Amino acid sequence: MWRTLLHVTVMFVLWWECSGFIWERNKIVSSDPGERFQKIPPAQVTADKLMRFFFGIDHRVIRQLRRRHRRSADIPTQSFAQFDAIFIIDSSASIRPQDYKNTLRALQLLTGKADRDRRYAAITFSYNATVRFNFTTRRDTVYKLRKIPFEAGKTNTQDALDICRRELILNSKCGGRPGVRKRVLIVTDGQSNVDKEKTLYRALQIKATGTQIFVIAVGRYLRGMSEIVGLASSTDAHLYRVRDVHGLMRVVRLIPPWHIMREYLHHSWLNGMLARPVTH
Ligand SMILES: *[C@@H]1O[C@H](CO)[C@@H](O)[C@H](O)[C@H]1NC(C)=O
Ligand SMILES: *[C@@H]1O[C@H](CO)[C@@H](O)[C@H](O)[C@H]1NC(C)=O
Repeated sequence: MWRTLLHVTVMFVLWWECSGFIWERNKIVSSDPGERFQKIPPAQVTADKLMRFFFGIDHRVIRQLRRRHRRSADIPTQSFAQFDAIFIIDSSASIRPQDYKNTLRALQLLTGKADRDRRYAAITFSYNATVRFNFTTRRDTVYKLRKIPFEAGKTNTQDALDICRRELILNSKCGGRPGVRKRVLIVTDGQSNVDKEKTLYRALQIKATGTQIFVIAVGRYLRGMSEIVGLASSTDAHLYRVRDVHGLMRVVRLIPPWHIMREYLHHSWLNGMLARPVTH
């Protein structure tokens, strides 16, 4: 009996110590969680990050690409990710029409640079969200992106996420490749302002389907940064910062075209095959 009481007391003291530590820690990190993501990295860093995490290209291949030499170490065969992409594009009034046009242009360029087999769909949002096109080919995507009109309304991010999940991710009849995972790329300049309490929940619903969410946050200083941070699947691999649309264009231009990437991938793959130990 006494032993039990002693035991309980010890446990309580331990718990007190631990939770005291946790409270202490919470106090330190409780300043605005979005603040440290306001910083805008150099375009080259962002471009390499997009290649590595969005396209899923092995970082050793990227390193070789940047050094422009082909001699490679042992690189695994699965050197880039297989996925279909969904663009979710902010069409709210806080964006200037010319910037919107250039955003579409940057996405066209990005599409043109990626794996030819990948399929793309696009959603725009302002007052409401609209599926602009179902999953389609690379070439058709480049053509259709150009035709998307500017809406200049509010920022109904949660509706875009909801439609994305229901009409594209969970709908097998919308042109995606069967059995291929989707990756969502959101381009936005800030915080949602329609039913915004639902935004992070909707993002969570998408993540629960095994879909990764990438966010390109455009703007010098973003007021909705903590929401944007919550949308992305992670802060180190899924969150990208550019100062303005020109910054986005610069980043995309720094990504080499697919035929160059493929050359490096192929070469690395061959070397990987040759260098791999027999015991593997
Ligand atoms: C579009 O948004 C408005 C305001 O948010 C809402 O009242 C309306 O029902 C929506 N329309 C559609 C078709 O979802
Ligand atoms: C996408 O496909 C669905 C059928 O799954 C269809 O109802 C819808 O109209 C299509 N959307 C567009 C924008 O083509």
